[in-house]
Amino acid sequence: MSYQNLLFEQKDGIAILTINRPDKLNALNQQTIDELAAAFAVIRSDDSIKGVILTGAGEKAFAAGADIEELSKLSAVEAREASLTNNKVLSTIEHFPKPVMAAVNGFCLGGGNELAMACHLRWAAENAKFGQPEVNLGLICGYGGTQRLARLVGKGRAIELVISGNMIDAPEAHRIGLVNHVVPRAELIGACEKFLQTVFQKGPVAVKLSLDAVNRGLEMTLEDGIAYEANLFGLAFSTADMREGTKAFLEKRKAAFQGK
Ligand code: COA
Repeated sequence: MSYQNLLFEQKDGIAILTINRPDKLNALNQQTIDELAAAFAVIRSDDSIKGVILTGAGEKAFAAGADIEELSKLSAVEAREASLTNNKVLSTIEHFPKPVMAAVNGFCLGGGNELAMACHLRWAAENAKFGQPEVNLGLICGYGGTQRLARLVGKGRAIELVISGNMIDAPEAHRIGLVNHVVPRAELIGACEKFLQTVFQKGPVAVKLSLDAVNRGLEMTLEDGIAYEANLFGLAFSTADMREGTKAFLEKRKAAFQGK
């Protein structure tokens, strides 16, 4: 499959997806979102790919938001449709069965921040800047921003960001829990690769079940989430990986997981 606005590389079990519209600060036009959906479908069915890093081309931006030129032409009905359709793509990423990391290498604004928040983890370069500037345009977040931001950083901080349109730098994003780690720009992709390689050493089915437990559990009451976790905990006992992992511990050797 060929992509117009996306670079798709594979390295050591990792798919590195780079949003590639640097002249437009990697703004997410419809073509780019459609290509992201296509790329994630390919990655889902490719067993050789065990994790994903999503980043932006160039030195300035991860993604500076939805494409404002495209937005400016939408009718109300079209805007609603675009929001619903593109939210499905972000939801696919959020519920993806393999770990997805956003490597945030610059401006991460509007739809760009919403995309980063749909990823399981966010590593930021020191130059990264985050915000939901939609109110500057007379708009509100349309790709889950009001919802995921509040879940990640808390209601008060989310409201501050979405009604002010203020940008925050990487250390502040780290302080409020929007990003997991801040690293020098030159080390960003390497740091993400290193983290994923650590995860790849773990029981693959357990990693998948853990992602699912956190993601779905957060949408439930605590009681329902704990019941859901108990079901997945039980399911883990049906895997060869669990037998191997516990046996290897007791035999004081490294587990040889097969992802089964
Ligand atoms: N949609 C479409 N084009 C965008 C864009 C977006 N979200 N963000 C940046 N661009 C384009 C600019 O129009 C410009 O294109 P041009 O060279 O053809 O004129 C190019 O990317 C470079 O952007 P520019 O504004 O010149 O860079 P800057 O360094 O001066 O400013 C930002 C950087 C991020 C502060 C500024 O581009 C900006 O505010 N972008 C919009 C952010 C936003 O509101 N996002 C939410 C959208 S809902």
